[in-house]
Amino acid sequence: MKILIAYYSKTGSTEKVAETLKQEFEKNGHAVELIKIVPVHKLKASQYKKNGKELALKTPATNIKKFDLILIGTPVWNFCPTPMVLSYLRNLLNVKDKNFALFATCTALPGTTIQRMGSILSTKGGKITASITIRSIFSLNKKKLKAAKTFAEQLS
Ligand SMILES: Cc1cc2nc3c(=O)[nH]c(=O)nc-3n(C[C@H](O)[C@H](O)[C@H](O)COP(=O)(O)O)c2cc1C
Repeated sequence: MKILIAYYSKTGSTEKVAETLKQEFEKNGHAVELIKIVPVHKLKASQYKKNGKELALKTPATNIKKFDLILIGTPVWNFCPTPMVLSYLRNLLNVKDKNFALFATCTALPGTTIQRMGSILSTKGGKITASITIRSIFSLNKKKLKAAKTFAEQLS
């Protein structure tokens, strides 16, 4: 499969999960493109508009036509996806009938993060095939990353 993994990460946890997923997919013979979602203006987390509307991204709107599976990852901010990921999802092109898997990292309480990402994509005709939330109250240890590996294996 051709797989896209697009993610936002401020302090590196979601990035670690994204990289673990990439390695695992590649081990299983898939071609993976990794895209980091980056906002044009770097602000304090509290200064972004929560819904991500009008949030400019450096990351161009990705045309996902060529991918068989698209993974989208976000940290949880205030029980929701980050504004960067919401903005990215709204800008995605050719979502209809594509397969998506969603992942989130948080300390403990993911709230409606996965549901919100899923509803933007399903409104555009995308299919959510799987999701995972990795909670790391203390740290993102080997055991937690193992969950990401298992997730990639199941999707392979
Ligand atoms: C502004 C802000 C809000 C957060 N809100 C939540 C939350 O609602 N629930 C939760 O469990 N963790 C919350 N966290 C913790 C992050 O989700 C968690 O540390 C995440 O793994 C960070 O990912 P990153 O290292 O990829 O940026 C919040 C962190 C920040 C900076």
